Amino acid sequence: MSTSARARAAITATARHFPEAVVENRYFYETLGLDTSEEWIRSRTGIRTRHRADHKKGEITSTLGAEAARKALESRGIGADDVDCIILATVTPDLGFPSTACLVQDQISAHRAWAFDVSAACSGFVYALAQATSLVESGRHQRVLVIGADVMSAILDQEDRNTCVLFGDGAGAVLVEAVPEDHPGALGQWRLRSDGSGAEHLFRYGGGILERVREEPPEPKGWYVHQDGRTVFKLAVTRLAEVVQELLAAEGLTVGDIDLTVPHQANIRIIEAARDKLRLPPEKVMVTIGQWANTTAATIPTSLDLAVEQHRLRAGDRVMLATFGGGFTWGAMLLRWGYDT
Ligand code: ACO
Repeated sequence: MSTSARARAAITATARHFPEAVVENRYFYETLGLDTSEEWIRSRTGIRTRHRADHKKGEITSTLGAEAARKALESRGIGADDVDCIILATVTPDLGFPSTACLVQDQISAHRAWAFDVSAACSGFVYALAQATSLVESGRHQRVLVIGADVMSAILDQEDRNTCVLFGDGAGAVLVEAVPEDHPGALGQWRLRSDGSGAEHLFRYGGGILERVREEPPEPKGWYVHQDGRTVFKLAVTRLAEVVQELLAAEGLTVGDIDLTVPHQANIRIIEAARDKLRLPPEKVMVTIGQWANTTAATIPTSLDLAVEQHRLRAGDRVMLATFGGGFTWGAMLLRWGYDT
């Protein structure tokens, strides 16, 4: 139901969904015969396993996203007809258009909702959460579903050891709701940034028109992710730490005020370096890259859902979300958690 009064927004439910199949590191050197090793992948990235969608059985971005959405609604005990809007972040949409959010809307039968995608690579979920917060705070909407979903296995060159070992498939969802003034939960403080001059370091042509409209097709061609890992790595550490510090300073807080940080999961060394720069205690930082790898838009909502499952959050806790990804895009969001887990 739409409201007209200005409201407070909070996360009231979380969920995640991964495909059943699990791919271990040895798949890349034993089955694919790539020049890589368990030692290299674990020590350079922290990744042990990742989930892989079964494309032939129809496991794609919309189906993973819809399943995470259904679980979020179920855990809150509400129906799809109670949802006003669906925002889905992805770099692996099912189609060029319509948006994957529309496909999810149809699959979960959210007949009253409008739906759209956000394209901000690994920062997509935090960007989408900011949009949802504004829609609820403005009083326009009561309930917005925010989904981060990616099937990275469909856009990775399985012969490129620089990228194919790094990513996994999965989806996470949260429900953002209008809550009363005295509710312990709150969203609304963030710093979001982008710098399009970074496009050459992390991109993919497939799905865009550039490859078609140029007389001379650009190099490298193709459907796959291209990444200059070293540049991305260095910038990710610097920007992540910077933006978290900026947001804390703006709010008159210090790192000691944060109960849990949920960073984007691209590489364990990025997480550890940013953590050390910020002097965050390891036990207050969620790390899921080991089992799930980098699921792009899904890393933050899935990690948040795991924190809920592990009873790591109490009503009123301060949670910091921090992200960096293609664009470049990056940002931090500070929220108050709304319920005991
Ligand atoms: N196995 C073995 N060797 C490898 C592999 C592999 N899987 N991948 C790369 N190498 C080699 C490289 O070819 C290179 O060899 P060379 O020295 O002969 O050229 C060597 O390892 C070292 O390469 P580096 O790039 O220096 O390795 P680094 O320690 O930086 O790790 C990595 C590479 C893991 C990609 C790292 O740079 C990284 O995580 N970067 C950031 C990724 C990221 O944050 N992405 C953003 C999000 S993605 C998004 O937004 C969609």
